[in-house]
Amino acid sequence: MTTIRQLSQSFPSISESSTTLVGWVEKIQSFPKHTFVTLRQGAKEKVQVFIKGKVSFRPESYISISGKVVPLPEGKFSHQPFEIQTTSYEVISPSEEDFMSRCPEDASVEVTYDQRHLYLRTDKYATILKLRSIFLRAIREYFESTDMTEIVPPCFTGTQCEGGATLFKIDHVGTPAYLTQSSQFYLEYAVPAVGDCYCIYPSFRAEKSHTRRHLTEFLHAETEWSGILKFDDHLDKLRHMVRGILQKFLDLDTFDLLGKFGRRKAIEEYSKMEIVTMTHRQAIEYCRQHGIYKHDETQTHFADRDDIPEAQERKMIDEIGKIVLLTKFPLEHKSFYMASDPEDPSYSLGCDVEVPGVGEVIGSGVRVSDEKELRQRLKDQGLKEEEYKEYIDLRKYGHGKTSGMGLGVDRMLTWLLGAYSIREVVTYPRYPGRLFP
Ligand code: 4AD
Repeated sequence: MTTIRQLSQSFPSISESSTTLVGWVEKIQSFPKHTFVTLRQGAKEKVQVFIKGKVSFRPESYISISGKVVPLPEGKFSHQPFEIQTTSYEVISPSEEDFMSRCPEDASVEVTYDQRHLYLRTDKYATILKLRSIFLRAIREYFESTDMTEIVPPCFTGTQCEGGATLFKIDHVGTPAYLTQSSQFYLEYAVPAVGDCYCIYPSFRAEKSHTRRHLTEFLHAETEWSGILKFDDHLDKLRHMVRGILQKFLDLDTFDLLGKFGRRKAIEEYSKMEIVTMTHRQAIEYCRQHGIYKHDETQTHFADRDDIPEAQERKMIDEIGKIVLLTKFPLEHKSFYMASDPEDPSYSLGCDVEVPGVGEVIGSGVRVSDEKELRQRLKDQGLKEEEYKEYIDLRKYGHGKTSGMGLGVDRMLTWLLGAYSIREVVTYPRYPGRLFP
């Protein structure tokens, strides 16, 4: 069976030839003596079909049509420079009549979540699906271009990685277990075997809040780099990666879907945007000087070691209007595995990548390398050493001085596609109360 893509690649040499196509009916325009149908095989694989007389099928029916490939009349524009003049057609699977009323263009956001399985067919969501696929290729190609090995980690784990507050506890055939919060440990285990490595895999967090940037299941692109002897080596990796992935995204989008989605220019600007570094101390100072308060009502300023909550952090990044590498957080706010700063061991060698409009899109840091220090950090955070035996082992047998990062694919796409909520760019968003479709 021919495809619309094959026809468009061989046109005009196949002009006037006969063809048979199957596809979904996207649009029907009826005139007294003829009908125009838009036949769809994919997000961008569409063609106009001319049929004599009226048709009885409805939008979203799956049909087969046979006819001649003819150039569009001069001055007419459609999806292709040609149309199909149909001699016969057959309805293979009919569609019910309420598709359009279930997926109206001006639907509320809730309706687009409820009917996501049908909305995926609409122009907006079909384009987002395609762009997600291109973005994933961009991430993978960037990682491969820097000689990293892909690892497939497990989804069930016996240890928590990012803290108990967001753990999904499950029953693993009689044994208590968790859904993975991050594949970091599994990448760390693989580094001595394969060198620098990465994975692109879901992570699960039992987030209780309904924010526009949190999901309970998200796609996580994670890396582990070895031989990170200075914090600056880690920051260089991050800068190179952010620029590299954005450039690959632009290069791989050969059909300019980003342009049609109205985002190519913005992403070209992001790919050249200045990347600045700011320590947590400098961020606290920035907030104090720019009227960003810990408590708005009482105009209370942040204290030196305070955590800066999401809303205030986003306000600051929006004002700065650049990509910010936010570094060196007070140790007490970060996970037990994060190395301390040799210049002031009460701060960490961590770095979050923050972008205007969305805030944090990447969490990263240098790992604790010393066994004794790691045991102490586990103790300080009330975690049981027995549960981290394998993780401690890595510090006994030639630790590779690693650092790593986790890039939230959905968060990053929220930024790149200019979406208000992360739920718009995820195929089937999961958040408290949402398990369907
Ligand atoms: O900062 P996080 O928690 O870092 C880690 O998980 C590290 N163990 C990663 C590593 O070093 N290998 O999460 C990393 C990123 C965040 O910056 C954010 O983009 C995304 O994961 N993320 C979420 N995205 C959507 N919904 C959530 N609930 C998310 N939690 C984190």
